[in-house]
Amino acid sequence: MSHSPLSLLFATHFTIWFLSSTPLVFSLKQPFRPIDILPILPRQVSWPILNSLSRSPIDILPTFVGNVSSPDNTLEWKGTCFQDNSAWMEFHNKSGSQFGGGTLHLKVSNAHSWTCMDLYVFATPYRVTWDYYFLGREHTLEFDEWDGKAEYEYVKHRGVSIFLMQAGMLGTLQALWDVFPLFTNTGWGENSNIGFLKNHMGASFSERPEPWVTNISVADIHSGDFLAISKIRGRWGGFETLEKWVTGAYAGHSAVCLRDSEGKLWVAESGHEDEEGQDIIAVLPWDEWWNFELTKDDSNPHIALLPLHPNIRAKFNETAAWEYARSMLGKPYGYHNLIFSWIDTTDGNYPPPLDANVVASVMTVWNHVQPAYAANMWNEALNKRLGTQGLDLPEILVETERRGSSFDALLAIPEQDNWVYIDGKSTSCVVFILEMYKEAGLFAPIASSIQVTEFTLKDAYSLKLFENDSSRLPKWCNNGDSVKPPFCQIKGKYRMELPGYNSMGPYPRMNEKCPSLPPKYSRPKGC
Ligand SMILES: *[C@@H]1O[C@H](CO)[C@@H](O)[C@H](O)[C@H]1NC(C)=O
Ligand SMILES: *[C@@H]1O[C@H](CO)[C@@H](O)[C@H](O)[C@H]1NC(C)=O
Ligand SMILES: *[C@@H]1O[C@H](CO)[C@@H](O)[C@H](O)[C@H]1NC(C)=O
Ligand SMILES: *[C@@H]1O[C@H](CO)[C@@H](O)[C@H](O)[C@H]1NC(C)=O
Ligand SMILES: *[C@@H]1O[C@H](CO)[C@@H](O)[C@H](O)[C@H]1NC(C)=O
Repeated sequence: MSHSPLSLLFATHFTIWFLSSTPLVFSLKQPFRPIDILPILPRQVSWPILNSLSRSPIDILPTFVGNVSSPDNTLEWKGTCFQDNSAWMEFHNKSGSQFGGGTLHLKVSNAHSWTCMDLYVFATPYRVTWDYYFLGREHTLEFDEWDGKAEYEYVKHRGVSIFLMQAGMLGTLQALWDVFPLFTNTGWGENSNIGFLKNHMGASFSERPEPWVTNISVADIHSGDFLAISKIRGRWGGFETLEKWVTGAYAGHSAVCLRDSEGKLWVAESGHEDEEGQDIIAVLPWDEWWNFELTKDDSNPHIALLPLHPNIRAKFNETAAWEYARSMLGKPYGYHNLIFSWIDTTDGNYPPPLDANVVASVMTVWNHVQPAYAANMWNEALNKRLGTQGLDLPEILVETERRGSSFDALLAIPEQDNWVYIDGKSTSCVVFILEMYKEAGLFAPIASSIQVTEFTLKDAYSLKLFENDSSRLPKWCNNGDSVKPPFCQIKGKYRMELPGYNSMGPYPRMNEKCPSLPPKYSRPKGC
């Protein structure tokens, strides 16, 4: 997928041609459209042009072409550049692994001009990849090894989904190139995550001395103490890395400690994986939770305990907290509104190359690959913002346009804590904890003007609620490390850092209109 010298030549030639914009194009025999040359322009140039050429955001969305699952069913379609295309899937076992891999064959021919190209995204629920084709011939795309039985079965039955992209997206996909390995559950995947966070956020990942697991005394942990978790490997690791990058949080998951009336310690968590692999809200005995993190969590979790300040703890109404936790038990993790806590503004939350169009494209791909989840994940929340019901993503885009608004403005409308979705109230890990804090009285007397669904994990650990006197931290806290952060890291090879920790008192309407751009993620006062 590297640039050939030929395409570089084209780039120079056509950039000059395009910028001088002579009427030469009309005398050419070959049909030629300005959009053809977009892929060879730098992204910073091509993307705004593509956006301005398209009459509506729907024009630049990926187009679903079909699924390919076997050599016996050949899929045929018409591209933007190549008129005649076909694809079929061949299963093989070149890797000698349990489920083998596959080769996707793609034959493209009959281009409408000699400068055009077609750009494709290929997706299963387990991976997304992309390629582009300049030459009319047979091409192949290798899947060396399926991601276990689940992906193998999926591809056998439903196939790999193919999407045709606007060629102007090429630069965007190239810029996102280092995102793809983040999801691999290997040492390489872990290093990709660490590398990405170092490069894009300036995280340091300094190694700390052993022991990497703290010998905790459970007696020192109290109701309301916050657990900040950072996963750096596998699917959760990749997901968290992207979440950290777009929000500026240095942790990707969280849970909260609760004591019952007998004094037994529990952990309440939104995003706990149950036996069926669903992420739900659960309350587990501390020992069970801790044991899972130490022995079964394959995402290499790094964990810090953030004890509440004694004055704040005194306000924490345990009864109300338990009532809230019980009312949420078994509900699904808050996918519905997850992205809305990040997007507050029309242009101050998207690190390049992301923007509202890329978000819409990702949603489109997801809509086809996991239709059941997609309706769940965003469509309902988008409908709520429009005051409509049951519109799917393309209909939402059309309706938004019809009202003279835009998709980026729609995404920026604040979520309301009292919105109820088809499966109940939607809370991500941190929203669940903050809602509990709200119920337990920690935001009194301004609780009614705080929408916790607008808080990211960074917003949560930045709240001035935590212990600020290091002499009161438990004895085992950071025991053995010469560096003493103001919280207690209890697991992990690398030192956790939480910039802005414990620094901001709650105020009405906080976090509803905040930009968040890397690398500094600076925010105006009072946003
Ligand atoms: C492709 O797969 C998706 C997901 O299973 C399904 O919804 C869709 O109908 C399939 N399309 C075709 C053309 O088989
Ligand atoms: C692939 O080859 C390996 C080693 O020969 C074998 O154990 C495995 O069952 C094969 N897998 C498939 C899907 O044929
Ligand atoms: C952990 O600490 C307890 C006392 O707090 C001690 O009895 C125990 O031996 C320690 N365990 C390890 C493995 O160091
Ligand atoms: C704590 O919450 C419970 C349940 O909401 C309530 O009945 C009780 O009055 C609260 N206690 C205090 C001290 O506010
Ligand atoms: C710690 O927090 C308390 C309560 O918010 C505050 O009164 C106190 O001044 C703080 N102490 C320091 C050293 O910042």
